[in-house]
Amino acid sequence: MQIFHEIAPLRAFLRQIRSDGKDCGLVPTMGALHGGHVSLLNRSKNENSITVCSIYVNPTQFNNPGDLLNYPRTHEKDYELLEKVGCDVVFSPTDEVMYPDKPLIKFDFGPLDDIMEGYYRPGHFSGVALVVAKLLNIVQPDRAYFGQKDWQQATIISRLVEELQIPSEIRIVPTTREPDGLAMSSRNLRLKPSERPQATIFYEVLTYAKNAILKEKKPFPTVVEHAREMFSRDPRLRLEYLEMVDSKNLNPITNVEDAERPILCIAGYVGEVRLIDNMFLDLSSN
Ligand code: PAF
Repeated sequence: MQIFHEIAPLRAFLRQIRSDGKDCGLVPTMGALHGGHVSLLNRSKNENSITVCSIYVNPTQFNNPGDLLNYPRTHEKDYELLEKVGCDVVFSPTDEVMYPDKPLIKFDFGPLDDIMEGYYRPGHFSGVALVVAKLLNIVQPDRAYFGQKDWQQATIISRLVEELQIPSEIRIVPTTREPDGLAMSSRNLRLKPSERPQATIFYEVLTYAKNAILKEKKPFPTVVEHAREMFSRDPRLRLEYLEMVDSKNLNPITNVEDAERPILCIAGYVGEVRLIDNMFLDLSSN
């Protein structure tokens, strides 16, 4: 496994790879790697000759300085895991490499950004889009892999690539869950042992809501009200939002029939840790 911290040697290496006729997959991460990342890496390994994993905690996507400070950083362990899963290349740049100057570019994704994560974390998706545009430009992968857990992010990145006509295909990989249903996330590392059992609330609410909407035909506002009650079982839990949206354009809907493929998205806190999750509203998928 080759590790690069600078752009120029990585580009030279990848130029050689391409001139040998090989294709390349990129798995962008912020480190603290877990089973969800492994499934992205395995997918990329199956679909490309070589897989690049980037590890970079991107400061421009954090609207809360405390969150950036506390974001888990486990580089040595990450390298070990990447070696084990057979990742070919790691790109792990410093802030100086990624942002030699204070960035001036801002992205505005309009209705894709006005709700849910974009509403509660203003500027977040501008920072995500900036770093992803940079990574796609640096690596120029044939395919790039993102997790379904961050559905709004995946939708915005797909739009970014489409509008800027970036020649990389975006592949969205289903969420990997712990046996009790908790979606795998680097942020789970920040949960205190006493908080960890409470973190299943997101999966419980999504499972309840999916059933209530599809089988019991309950109106969405009633479902949200019950979700709030479920969150009130422990003072360490706080529901930020439960939204039902069209998975294509993120338009909020109140009637499940109003979208071809509706998705439920949820965000909230367990203690100090903010978590998100989602579930498609069709009978076949999670
Ligand atoms: O999903 C993440 O880990 C990050 O938002 C990403 C896509 C690596 C950009 O920093």
